[in-house]
Amino acid sequence: MNLLNNKHLLGIKNLDLNEIDLIFNTADRFKEVLTRPIKKVPSLRHITIANVFFENSTRTKLSFELAEKRLSAEILNFSSSGSSVKKGESLLDTIKNILVMKVDIMVIRHSSPGVPQFIANNVDASVVNAGDGSHEHPTQALLDAYSIKEKLGNINNKKIAIIGDIIHSRVAISNIFLLKKLGAKVMVCGPKTLIPKHISDLDIIVENNIKKALEWADVANVLRIQLERQEVKYFPSLREYSLYFGINNKLLKSINKDLIIMHPGPINRGIEISSDVADSSRSIILNQVENGVAIRMAILYLLSLNIK
Ligand code: CP
Repeated sequence: MNLLNNKHLLGIKNLDLNEIDLIFNTADRFKEVLTRPIKKVPSLRHITIANVFFENSTRTKLSFELAEKRLSAEILNFSSSGSSVKKGESLLDTIKNILVMKVDIMVIRHSSPGVPQFIANNVDASVVNAGDGSHEHPTQALLDAYSIKEKLGNINNKKIAIIGDIIHSRVAISNIFLLKKLGAKVMVCGPKTLIPKHISDLDIIVENNIKKALEWADVANVLRIQLERQEVKYFPSLREYSLYFGINNKLLKSINKDLIIMHPGPINRGIEISSDVADSSRSIILNQVENGVAIRMAILYLLSLNIK
């Protein structure tokens, strides 16, 4: 099989193992392209892509834009700040006005869960979810799993601890779905208030003690404390969170084992992770960002094959 089953990428839930393999193998080929002096191929020169961001982004937005340029696509960039959304234009009117300019693929980020699905239900273009509220962030999970595979050789039976603000995190949910499909053992760790009540129904381990989680894990994927989504206090203070759940060198030394550290970014340095860990040789945080371009090239290329 060398096609994706669906014309959209809305979440990890609907991807099967063959499609995940296809995305990883295609990303391997594009990663090689990115080592060449001319880091560009003509694969998408007939395709127009709109990057539609209703929520802030650095990594995902730049990574999609660069992936599209490396594939020679035509690009439109839209951010809601400075747009007619501020004059009261509806979401669907905004999207329809962008699409009527002959756009083939729309990459969308929105703070409300379900917006990419809603758009996919209402337009002809392919839709890629670049993060919708606390629902899913499929390209982040794919680049995370690809980076783990690159570092450890495979994912099957590897122990991955996802640490921190699980309840607000689309990265956590997409990572859990993907890692479970790939045969990993998955744990979530954090204060009880930041872990959804029934998350163990997803066949994952729940741990509230950070030292025990790190002693168990091969990989720690540390998540940002999402203060902007916390309408009530989930813990007494950032200082206390950092004291009980922050990952620092002193804690890692007390465990004394090889452990790979990941973070999807942006980092709150000194809160969920200290600078000495984020910048250490065990951290693959910047490899994740680098791999994001090849993964997004793979997804856009594969989706373009389904466009008539
Ligand atoms: N990891 C991630 O989605 O980062 P941005 O919010 O900067 O895109």
